[in-house]
Amino acid sequence: MLIRALDSAGPDDPQPGQFYMLGTAERWGGGADDRPYLPRALSYARAREGELSFLLEVVGPGTARLAELSPGEGLALLGPLGVGWRAPQEGTRPVLVGGGIGTAPLVCLQDELGPEATVLLGFRTAAHAEAAALFAGEPELATDDGSAGRQALVTDLLREQLDADPAATVFACGPPAMLEAVRLACAELAVPAQLALESGMACGFGACFGCVVPTTEGYIRLCVDGPVLAAELLAMPPGGSRPRTPAGDWQVAG
Ligand SMILES: Cc1cc2nc3c(=O)[nH]c(=O)nc-3n(C[C@H](O)[C@H](O)[C@H](O)COP(=O)(O)OP(=O)(O)OC[C@H]3O[C@@H](n4cnc5c(N)ncnc54)[C@H](O)[C@@H]3O)c2cc1C
Ligand code: FES
Repeated sequence: MLIRALDSAGPDDPQPGQFYMLGTAERWGGGADDRPYLPRALSYARAREGELSFLLEVVGPGTARLAELSPGEGLALLGPLGVGWRAPQEGTRPVLVGGGIGTAPLVCLQDELGPEATVLLGFRTAAHAEAAALFAGEPELATDDGSAGRQALVTDLLREQLDADPAATVFACGPPAMLEAVRLACAELAVPAQLALESGMACGFGACFGCVVPTTEGYIRLCVDGPVLAAELLAMPPGGSRPRTPAGDWQVAG
């Protein structure tokens, strides 16, 4: 679902791929005496004239409460945070690859790059594909059941694009398995790729170290050094494996 938030007092130049920490001003927590939830990280999908749009998938109590917001309700909003997408490598065309709720940070990226940027989107079914309508032009769609676009994986669409013309920079956000497939395909074809990741975030601004993820250069805080990382940072080191965080391996933002 789409949430629109007024942010007339906030910075008017968030960069695509950055995120905000969100919590409702009222009824945020399990009850009057309960500890409030920590705010939840959401990538902004679009920023226009003091208004921010977010795409929301309900997966737990924080997102469920955000989904219950009614018009005019107060929202605690902190951001923009983190480092978003970098420019495409010179001489390459941008190819945007989104899976599910991971389409969110690609909407504003296409707004910035222009409608000619190639957009490839994957969803479970047509019912989950509403976000496709936010993109300019005609994004290529893949669904698991073929109810919208082709019955394929979005990474199949990417492979076809890169086989036809590998002079591309890939920008990807989606579930972990999708991101890993994107990373492998791009590594094989020596195509530069940027991946938007997710990890559990408590503060969003570097203070709690709850969001650390392992990279080839050691552990980094995803909220300040990401959430967008160069794919090479996640490459398997020769003869070794990526270290894991105590909380588990990295996940994908969106
Ligand atoms: C940088 C960043 C950007 C993000 N952007 C968005 C966005 O644009 N839209 C959006 O909806 N979410 C986004 N997320 C994910 C969102 O912040 C988390 O899903 C959040 O933890 C949900 O809070 P909750 O209280 O609803 O569920 P939690 O209590 O945190 O989680 C409930 C259960 O759902 C599982 N879960 C958590 N996240 C997911 C998930 N993404 N998919 C499936 N299961 C999950 C948990 O493991 C747990 O079992 C982003 C996260 C990060 C770090
Ligand atoms: S979320 Fe607290 S340090 Fe990153």
